[in-house]
Amino acid sequence: MKRPVAYFAGIGAYAPARVMRNEEFAALGLETSDEWIVQRTGIRERHIAGPDENNRTMSAIASRRAMERAGVSPGEIDLIVLGTATPDRLLPATAVDLQAELGASRAAAFDVMAACSSWLYGLIVAEGLMASGNAETALVVGTEKLSTIVDWKDRSTCVLFGDGAGAAVLKRSRQGKGILSTYMRSDGTLAELLYRPSGGAARPFDQASLDDRSIFLRMEGREVFKHAVRSMSEAADRALDGAKLTGANVDLMIPHQANVRIIEATAKHAGIPMEKVFVNVDRFGNTSSASVGLALDEAITSGRVTEGSTVLLVAFGAGFTWASLVIRF
Ligand code: ACO
Repeated sequence: MKRPVAYFAGIGAYAPARVMRNEEFAALGLETSDEWIVQRTGIRERHIAGPDENNRTMSAIASRRAMERAGVSPGEIDLIVLGTATPDRLLPATAVDLQAELGASRAAAFDVMAACSSWLYGLIVAEGLMASGNAETALVVGTEKLSTIVDWKDRSTCVLFGDGAGAAVLKRSRQGKGILSTYMRSDGTLAELLYRPSGGAARPFDQASLDDRSIFLRMEGREVFKHAVRSMSEAADRALDGAKLTGANVDLMIPHQANVRIIEATAKHAGIPMEKVFVNVDRFGNTSSASVGLALDEAITSGRVTEGSTVLLVAFGAGFTWASLVIRF
């Protein structure tokens, strides 16, 4: 495949209006503190979706913003790839709800489920479908309402996550800009480090799963941390190798926003100083598949990514999954 095939024609994001600060966890009866959360994670606050908000509504706002910036109408979209770990319904895919909401009637729409790596996986899948001639204009979305799957009685997980959506319109590349390299990997032997034990076909939802709270997300934080640093570092190396670049050539690294300590370790490994690393986990927490899109949107609107910037995107998530892309804007 001769690259670049696809470029980022427009980016959009949405975060719910409700901001929940670390201090508010005490009112839920949790023994935690702003100091503990900031020290271990870098998170100060996160956005929480309201009862009338869901992935259909949040991803539609992010998508419309991206389409407006790209100058693309719903009828021009021929592919929608949507990443989420919190689908609005288990059937059908959230992507088709978004398609209906946007009126993108010419599109094929499906979900990608790679947890926090989903948006990067989605971008790579969309690029491949464009390369094979199956799509010309793709909408790639990451959207999460994680507040519905975290256990609000478990202080070791509920303080970490937030809600939101990010979206990109990919169009066929012109003038050498766009996706220069990609990398993706998974390791299913690590699945139970971060998972929801029940609620699926293997252990269907029932009264017992409500009683033992196994329908909610469970995580071995320390183990996840170790693997996250290793896989993010590997992903950064592989995408840079693929683009024949080093950390010194990167204008901005935009990593998955899970924990500032994981971000710092990844940047150090890649030889990228923190001044060239985008961090907004302090204000959004971990928004899983929405995280990199939300960060890229802020990086563009704040002028940190401009025409000609070389940007490294890196993510890891439950599965385990990990992925990376180098993009020339
Ligand atoms: N407030 C106060 N104390 C807490 C809290 C809290 N919110 N949460 C846990 N603790 C306590 C623990 O109970 C433990 O107490 P103990 O020593 O008496 O048993 C102590 O703090 C230390 O707990 P650890 O889990 O060892 O703390 P650690 O330094 O590892 O930090 C954290 C925990 C922040 C979760 C860290 O392990 C981490 O960030 N891991 C990666 C998580 C991550 O990135 N997940 C997202 C994956 S991506 C996706 O796909 C969703």
